[in-house]
Amino acid sequence: MEGGTALFIQKFIQSPLQVGSLFPSSAALAKKMTSNINWGNIRTAAELGAGTGVITHEILKNMHAGSHLHVFEKDTQMRCGLQLKYPQAIYHEDACDLLNSIGKGEGSLDAVFSGLPFSNFNKNLRSQIVQEVHRSLREGGILVAFQYSTQMKKTFQMYFKQVDITFVPKNFPPAFVYICEK
Ligand SMILES: C[S@@+](CC[C@H](N)C(=O)[O-])C[C@H]1O[C@@H](n2cnc3c(N)ncnc32)[C@H](O)[C@@H]1O
Repeated sequence: MEGGTALFIQKFIQSPLQVGSLFPSSAALAKKMTSNINWGNIRTAAELGAGTGVITHEILKNMHAGSHLHVFEKDTQMRCGLQLKYPQAIYHEDACDLLNSIGKGEGSLDAVFSGLPFSNFNKNLRSQIVQEVHRSLREGGILVAFQYSTQMKKTFQMYFKQVDITFVPKNFPPAFVYICEK
């Protein structure tokens, strides 16, 4: 088993609600998360809940030179692993502090990619993070989030003018990718 997968399983056993899935995302899900983006328009982006970096890898592969990625990962060991693997990104602990952490004020992000397990969070925490994301994005900015259900559709529709959902069967568990435009 690949080292990242073993660490991920260990972290899920320790904190199942925070980690939210037994395995890291598949390559197919990581590709889907990054495939509907006009990368030429992305100068500053954030990734929330990066885990062992499957999606981080795809984002950094696509981002143009001179652009910046803020990575949020609450688990210290996974965050330190990401810092070693992808030193070009800027690291933070908690997605709840998104706006403060990026330090550039409202409307400064072009895109946010989320692997956060929203359905494991209580309603207040869910709303707090979605509001932080919405305030951090510029007009026309995009939130791309994966979940294992369509439960977040109504919440995202409360904040974003357009919400599209695609099903990705090649993942365990199969996932839904939400693309939300501000
Ligand atoms: C379902 S995993 C996704 C990991 C990775 N993006 C992937 O696709 O394999 C969710 C991740 O979100 C992290 N997480 C949960 N709550 C968080 C928070 N408030 N701030 C930052 N990361 C958080 C967990 O530690 C976990 O690594």
